[in-house]
Amino acid sequence: MAAARGGCAMLGARLRAGGLSRASWRWRVSPPGPSTTSVLPKRASAAAVSSRALESDAVGVCVTPRPRERRRSRVLRASRAVSESRAESRETQGESYLETASRPSRFQESSWGDPEAVEVLLQTMRIQWSHGYPDTPRGYDRLTHGFHEYPAGMQAAAADRCLDCLPGTSLLDPFCGSGTSVVVGMTRGYRGFGVDVSPLAAFVAAHRAWRPARGEETLDAMREIARAATGAAEMEEAAARLLREERAERSGGEEEENARDGATAAALKNGGGAGAVPRDWRPTHSALSEYLSRSNGDDDGKDAAKEHPLVAAAEPGVPGALRFCLSVALQRSQKGRGKRRPYKRQRKKNAEKLETAETAETALTPGQLEAAARFRDVVDEYCGRVSGLVRAVDADVPRATIYNEDVRDLRLPTRVDAVLTSPPYPGVYDYLSFARKVRAGSGNATVVARSTCSDQPAIEPPTAKDAKDVVAGSEGYFRAAVPADRAWPAEWTQGEIGARKTLRSDPHAFKAVWQAEQEGWLTVVASSLKPGGRAAVMVGDGANIDTRASVLAAGEACGLVGVASVTMALTHEMEDGRVWNAARKEHLVLLEKPL
Ligand SMILES: C[S@@+](CC[C@H](N)C(=O)[O-])C[C@H]1O[C@@H](n2cnc3c(N)ncnc32)[C@H](O)[C@@H]1O
Repeated sequence: MAAARGGCAMLGARLRAGGLSRASWRWRVSPPGPSTTSVLPKRASAAAVSSRALESDAVGVCVTPRPRERRRSRVLRASRAVSESRAESRETQGESYLETASRPSRFQESSWGDPEAVEVLLQTMRIQWSHGYPDTPRGYDRLTHGFHEYPAGMQAAAADRCLDCLPGTSLLDPFCGSGTSVVVGMTRGYRGFGVDVSPLAAFVAAHRAWRPARGEETLDAMREIARAATGAAEMEEAAARLLREERAERSGGEEEENARDGATAAALKNGGGAGAVPRDWRPTHSALSEYLSRSNGDDDGKDAAKEHPLVAAAEPGVPGALRFCLSVALQRSQKGRGKRRPYKRQRKKNAEKLETAETAETALTPGQLEAAARFRDVVDEYCGRVSGLVRAVDADVPRATIYNEDVRDLRLPTRVDAVLTSPPYPGVYDYLSFARKVRAGSGNATVVARSTCSDQPAIEPPTAKDAKDVVAGSEGYFRAAVPADRAWPAEWTQGEIGARKTLRSDPHAFKAVWQAEQEGWLTVVASSLKPGGRAAVMVGDGANIDTRASVLAAGEACGLVGVASVTMALTHEMEDGRVWNAARKEHLVLLEKPL
């Protein structure tokens, strides 16, 4: 998202240079929404639009501009969104985000249903559209929100406001993604259940919701282990080990390549055990893996006696949390690094560095040392954020449970009072493909032992629901090897609903498939809710589907009645009368299970 914002700033600069005038813009009321209010500000301006809404390229368009005009419209709306959100933040300095959300926004809002619920839903959407994701607004605790990138997240402060129209003490998010609603729910006293088909989402949600049983003691141990695992001697050893492995693979690799063994060749190209981990990060990755794997005495044949005392004494969740931090550090290091080839001089430097490393047996490059330092910083930041979460949640609130499976297969052990979720938008993302990309970039499989620990958010595998088979923390995520030949296991490729690739594979059938998918997951929601329970669903249009109508219809088919809904839109009209939506419409729909 930050990258998207950076892009907006650049476009804004280009716009100013081109001297395009804002005066050529006027506002027009969008076609009547679901019903009642349609609030259109007199002042023709837009604050920051929900970053999810801005990710549109398949929005409902009144008149489709030609490609060049479309590009220009993107330039204009990006510049407007950025400069005016800054102006607005200057204007509203000193005002809390909740006060701001209690007034009509500059977006086109429409609503329907129970007035009390509408008020809460409207404020929720104003917060979502004004503050986007992943940063939380000033005055709202960051906790673990936004730690580890995940696409299309819900704004935590918006989720918090939405809980005001949901009853009870237990909460399910059937598309939990990075776990925003589960974490927010915990801070409000709900027992949280999160479900997501993506192993990456389960991995992120489980670590964002982590509340170590021994609190600060565990976090101190985690910092200490990070330092010990990436100490000078461990890093030197890891660098030497990698060098040896690389040399052995290279000599073996020639033979393999001669034998035209595609999979082996690809594995060698990946850099063997380090997978697609950038070169600078390999010693850190290897040193940490080696340090932690010694604690897995049972499953992979390692000698339990060799356990590092620090790891052995730590809570079982610590190794997973450290791997999670490494994944965050890797993700941050790769951010904004497109596919651009380095310039010639840089390439020469890189080659020299490599040569020095190869001849010096164990020499660590400055980049490798810096990577280790950055990893330790990420661990410090994570520990600080987890510590904030522990303080924010009452000790008697039960720990969250995360299920890594297709929600349509879910059978919750208990019924819940409320559902707060944001399902995939039709044909917009490929979440599993994103998950595979991130997994491939975090190194080849580390064989990790299964552990059953009650003090860590549990990720339950689809087949085994008994407590013994609960997979803790990142183990499910790291158990899957990165296949060199792209033959990923089923859990990395199947079950996603509303995927862009489904739209592309058969655009004509998509609408019917989408509707059937909605009924599929809403049937599970209906059976998981207690009578009188409520479900809030935040969803956006795509592939020419009105998702508000679609969710209400599917809900009704599953025995859930519509209570209220709000819709946010942003429509532009040019001087010559052409009109188009600048961002996809987003809806928040409230459903209820009758008593
Ligand atoms: C819009 S994102 C949710 C983001 C989340 N609210 C957050 O704050 O991070 C939608 C999620 O639905 C998940 N998903 C897609 N199909 C699913 C299915 N059949 N069962 C469970 N989750 C699914 C995707 O993996 C994705 O994480």
